[in-house]
Amino acid sequence: MTSLSGSNTDAVAELASIDSARAPIFLQPNDNRGFELAAMLDLESNDIQSAPTDGWFLGCHHGELALCHSTESSLVISERSVRTKIDEARGTHLAKACMARPGRKVLDAFGGWGIDGFTLSALGCEVSILEVNPLIYTMARHLAKELGCEAKVVCTDAERYLHCTAEIFDVVYFDPMFPGHPKSAKPARRMQILELLARKDTDIDQVFKLAKSRTRDRIVVKRRRTEKPKRPIPDWQVSGRAVRFDVYQIR
Ligand SMILES: C[S@@+](CC[C@H](N)C(=O)[O-])C[C@H]1O[C@@H](n2cnc3c(N)ncnc32)[C@H](O)[C@@H]1O
Repeated sequence: MTSLSGSNTDAVAELASIDSARAPIFLQPNDNRGFELAAMLDLESNDIQSAPTDGWFLGCHHGELALCHSTESSLVISERSVRTKIDEARGTHLAKACMARPGRKVLDAFGGWGIDGFTLSALGCEVSILEVNPLIYTMARHLAKELGCEAKVVCTDAERYLHCTAEIFDVVYFDPMFPGHPKSAKPARRMQILELLARKDTDIDQVFKLAKSRTRDRIVVKRRRTEKPKRPIPDWQVSGRAVRFDVYQIR
């Protein structure tokens, strides 16, 4: 659980309200599996007839939690596809940049589907994953359950969280959405939908400053490999083929 400094009562009250942003799930009246999912994830269930007509919503597709849309095909993120990625985690650039090892406390502040966070958790880190968008967050929380991953997934804005929490992390990790790149090939579908739904906080100056006071060892920022280094200049970088990890040593 998040530890709190008892003196700041406003912050305590605010943290208690974090994780309250729940998106409902829209289901056919006879969808037993859907209702099971709703109960498991503590989601309010609504009749599919009242589902949004112009955007993404949570639903159940062939017995799986899905992001659904009135005119697009549903997105299911299979536990199997994520597990394969996680199983290949040892020795990856992410693992090196975060110096992942058992017991290390990591805050994955821009969680997305949670795949990087789950990867660090599989390497033994104690991971908290933050995601501001309730649809993405619910998919990530479901994936964590399916994977049997112990990472804590919280629906909140990272800046608000860092402002309120008294917890200190060994590593704070940021993976902001990359700025648009006209030349890049079309990404995988789950990335295309992430791009549509995600908050595009590409300027992370403010949240970076807050993270400094909550980090014991390092802040790691994932960037496109070709992106110009941003100020502050990182202490070192771990570069891969398409992305690099900028590492800021705190102490
Ligand atoms: C590039 S994605 C992260 C992908 C992730 N590393 C993964 O493995 O799936 C960035 C995510 O950060 C979220 N985000 C952006 N600003 C945020 C903020 N201030 N607080 C929490 N989440 C935020 C976006 O909604 C988006 O889902």
